[in-house]
Amino acid sequence: MNNKRKIIIDTDPGIDDAIAIAIALFSEELDVKLISTVVGNVSLDLVTENTLKLLTFFGKNVPVAKGSKEPLFQKFEDATNVHGVSGMDGYDFGEPNRSNLLEEHSVNAMRRTILESETPITIVAIGPLTNIALLLKMYPEVKNNIDEIVFMGGSLTRGNKTVMGEFNIASDPEAAKIVFSSGVNLVMAGLDVGLKALVYPEDSQIIKTFGKTGDMMYSLFQKYRGGSFKTGLKMYDSCAIAYLLCPEMYELTDTFIDVETQSNLTLGCTIVDLKGYLKKAPNAKVCTDISPKIFKEWFMKSIKKCI
Ligand code: RIB
Ligand code: CA
Repeated sequence: MNNKRKIIIDTDPGIDDAIAIAIALFSEELDVKLISTVVGNVSLDLVTENTLKLLTFFGKNVPVAKGSKEPLFQKFEDATNVHGVSGMDGYDFGEPNRSNLLEEHSVNAMRRTILESETPITIVAIGPLTNIALLLKMYPEVKNNIDEIVFMGGSLTRGNKTVMGEFNIASDPEAAKIVFSSGVNLVMAGLDVGLKALVYPEDSQIIKTFGKTGDMMYSLFQKYRGGSFKTGLKMYDSCAIAYLLCPEMYELTDTFIDVETQSNLTLGCTIVDLKGYLKKAPNAKVCTDISPKIFKEWFMKSIKKCI
């Protein structure tokens, strides 16, 4: 048995998801046991197709399972304006190998993977939390074998989907509420760090020289509208993987987090109670800041391993 950290990635690729997944797949420290797909940036079918395309491109043999095709209550609203119509515009991946696609729903696949594991599993959630909420509600017994849930989502301040809602949380705030109140160890990597986790033009030019992988990533970057080539491309989802592989890039604090699910004005707003006003015990470790320098060094080193 290897001593790699076993993870399940729940994802909605998504160009920034694709980069984060690539880094995880090629890390010597991580063992990706399952990739679960969730509706988010684009439809469930498309995010699943994109996941299969990535695994085929990299020649990686990881089980994939389709999850929720709708948020728990909210209406699905895509992010094709950021990732393109396909969710991963810019590069022609061709037809994927679909032999890794499991028949079972990803919630059941996650339950089985977690309960079968001899050591606790870390869940890396880089899309809306719909599948994770269903998992914890339907099968609470899995909590005993989950090390922690590291999620990209939320913010200490404002949103990027609505005034106060970050996309992953605001897409399914009720799911986030279930996860935040689950009692499972949580790590939040929100916009506060995601907006500073940038790929600059000089980085993109270097990545372009990384062979077939560099060509693919550079092509995706040209279509990605999470930031811009000139001002920096936001690698939101890589922040969740970065916590596992290079936590020293972060300022971290244990605090109480919650999410607004009632107000139309602030639906999906994450409450990060740094000053303890709510007098609630901490339920999450929050990445409150990031060293852009350490991120850049880690990111470029990690991408180079994906060749
Ligand atoms: O707010 C950024 C998050 O929303 C990222 O996970 C991105 O992929 C989108 O899903
Ligand atoms: Ca995502």
